[in-house]
Amino acid sequence: MLSEQLDQLVEDALGSFKAATNSKSLYDAKVKYLGKSGKFTEILKGLGKLSKEERPAAGKLVNEKKKELEEAYSQILSNLETAELNKKIEGDFFNFSFPGSSEAQIGSRHPIGLVIEEMISILSRLGFAVRTGPHIESDEKNFSKLNFPKDHPARDMQDTFYIGKDHVLRTHTSPIQIRTMETEPPPLRILAPGSVFRCDSDISHSPNFYQVEGLYVDKKVSMAHLKGIIGFFVREFFGEKTKTRFRPSYFPFTEPSAEVDCTCPICKGKGCRTCSNSGWIEIGGCGLVHPNVLSSCGLDTDKWQGLAFGFGVERMAMIKFGISDIRLFNENLVNFSNQFNGAL
Ligand code: DAH
Repeated sequence: MLSEQLDQLVEDALGSFKAATNSKSLYDAKVKYLGKSGKFTEILKGLGKLSKEERPAAGKLVNEKKKELEEAYSQILSNLETAELNKKIEGDFFNFSFPGSSEAQIGSRHPIGLVIEEMISILSRLGFAVRTGPHIESDEKNFSKLNFPKDHPARDMQDTFYIGKDHVLRTHTSPIQIRTMETEPPPLRILAPGSVFRCDSDISHSPNFYQVEGLYVDKKVSMAHLKGIIGFFVREFFGEKTKTRFRPSYFPFTEPSAEVDCTCPICKGKGCRTCSNSGWIEIGGCGLVHPNVLSSCGLDTDKWQGLAFGFGVERMAMIKFGISDIRLFNENLVNFSNQFNGAL
């Protein structure tokens, strides 16, 4: 009987499908029963020998059984594939605990950012608040309104990156003094941290470096205030015992002008390589704001005076952390930056 023969075949086929341990042996079993020269095809071919009347019912039965078997095959195949994939994930392919080929590096705060933050934090305790300005600055705010004469050497193309005739990449943060005095009424106490640009490059000069500028405008501002503020800042930044001294100097925008030195924090004033054996190290410039600068911003010079100072951030960081080459700041090496995490 055909139906018995088919039932037996389906049972045998299911048996060998279920016995397959992987998709390859399951496929082999499928070929054996459902393939072109498989057992089902054999039976289908045999139907030709049946009478015309018997043939349709027999054909239908064979096809039904064949379909049943094919569905069982798909189900078993999918189970096997899932099991194989799970095994792969659990095994060597996705081993989450396996160490990577190189150690992952975690990013780090840059020492320049840390130093700027520390400088702001110290001076904000004296009431200074942060102001900023653009990197591309007018010649007027970078030079003219800061009382630079037309023929001042700092305006030279050798030092300044000009952008057209009337604009420059700011050579210092001092134009932020102008921007603030032009837009905010005194009294003022501002700090201007930022990036500045000069055509200069060697072991201690970078074409792009950072400054922090300070400006204090009020009635009756004197050199005594300036010395008090800078002395406080230096002691807070480099340590309680650090001394400051002021050397007469010249800047077009201040009168009188001074350069600020502090006792070398590395040798504590005894003399070392960093301070060229002098025991002192220069950290910035300062002075009382020149009346021409105040009046260029519309301030009444009979009523208002100002003091200003400017520190080089790289220099502060180099002294604080004992860094000998300014170019290290621009190399973006995590191993370099990592050393200063938590140092401030
Ligand atoms: N702008 C000066 C420079 O880049 C630094 C400076 C000196 C700023 C004296 C000041 C100052 O505010 O009073 O060299």
